[in-house]
Amino acid sequence: MTERPVHAGQRGGYPHIRPRRNRRSPWARALVSEHALSPSDLIWPLFVLDGTGRREPIPSMPGVDRLSIDLVAEAAREAAALGIPAVALFPYTDPALRTDDAREAFNPDNLVCRATRAIKATGVDLGVILDVALDPYTSHGHDGLVRDGVILNDETVEALIRQSLNQVSAGCDVLAPSDMMDGRIGAIRRALEAAGHHDTQIMSYAAKYASAFYGPFRDAVGSSSTLKGDKRTYQMDPANTDEALREVALDIEEGADLVMVKPGMPYLDIVQRVSETFKVPTFAYQVSGEYAMLMAAAERGWLDAEKVMMESLLAFKRAGASGILTYFAPRAARVLNSR
Ligand code: PBG
Repeated sequence: MTERPVHAGQRGGYPHIRPRRNRRSPWARALVSEHALSPSDLIWPLFVLDGTGRREPIPSMPGVDRLSIDLVAEAAREAAALGIPAVALFPYTDPALRTDDAREAFNPDNLVCRATRAIKATGVDLGVILDVALDPYTSHGHDGLVRDGVILNDETVEALIRQSLNQVSAGCDVLAPSDMMDGRIGAIRRALEAAGHHDTQIMSYAAKYASAFYGPFRDAVGSSSTLKGDKRTYQMDPANTDEALREVALDIEEGADLVMVKPGMPYLDIVQRVSETFKVPTFAYQVSGEYAMLMAAAERGWLDAEKVMMESLLAFKRAGASGILTYFAPRAARVLNSR
C-alpha cells in the first residue's frame, strides 16, 4: 500500500466528498434512506380480560389496557384498518383458575380461545398469534410444570402440545412458543402434522433471554406476584450470543417458520446476527419494559414519545428485523398512515 495524503483539492475526501449534500433537504434524505417502517411490519400484543365492555389500565404500561373479548374484537378491526397484519393475544387468567398443572390452558373456552373465535367472527383479514407457554395458567407463574422446584422439560412439552392443539382448534393462525423448553418446536410441529394442521405457522421465541424487562408484562397477565424465583434455567443468559444462534438453528430445523429475538432494543446485536446468519423471517419483541421506559420518560417530559417510538422501531428494521411486536403498534401505524 502506498501512502496517499488526502489534501484539500486532491482526489478523495473533502471537499469533493461532502456527506451532508445527501442530507440537505427532506427530498434528498428520502432519496437515500436505507430503511423504512410500515404498518405491515407491526404486530400488536393485546391483553385479554373476562367480561364485556371492560377496559382495565395497566399502571406500569401507560396507554395499554386489558380488554374484554368484545373490545379485543374491536381492536382487531382497528388493527386491520390501520394495516397491521397480526395481533398477539395474552390472557389475564382469573387467579382462581391458575393451578399447578395449568389445566386452564387446555380449556377450549379459555380467554384466548374465545377471543380468537371473536376476532375470526369479525371476518377481518388479520393473523391471530397465540403464545404457547403455561405461565398465565400456573399457580407458580412459571412457563413450565414444576416438581421439587425443578422446571420439568419433557412433561412441559407434552402440556405445550395440548395447549397448541387447543389453540389451533379455536382458529389461531400462528403458534408462538415462548417457553424455551428444549425440543418443543419439533414436538409441536409433529403434533400439528399428525392432526392435519399442515398450515399452522410457528413463530418461535427462539432466542429469549431471562430479562428483567418483562416486569410490566407480568403485571399485565398477573404473574408478577405469583412467580416464585426466576426463569434462568430455561430462558437464556444475557451474556450469550453464540448460544442464540444455536437456539435459532435448532428451532428452524425443528420446523419454525418465523423466529423471534426477545427483548428487542437491548439485544439488537442478536437481531442482526440472527437475521444475517439464517435469512429467515426474524422478528423482534420490543417488550413491556422497553415500552414502559420510553413512556415513563415521555410522561416526565424528558423524551418526545412519538419521536422515540418511531426511532426505536426503525432501529429494529436497521438491524434486519422483518417485523416487530410492539405495544406502540396502533400509535405507530397511525403516525405512518398520516405521513
Ligand atoms: C410468557 C411471555 C412473557 C412475555 C411474552 N410471553 C413473559 C415471561 O417470559 O416472563 C414478555 C413480553 C413482554 O415483556 O412484553 N412466557
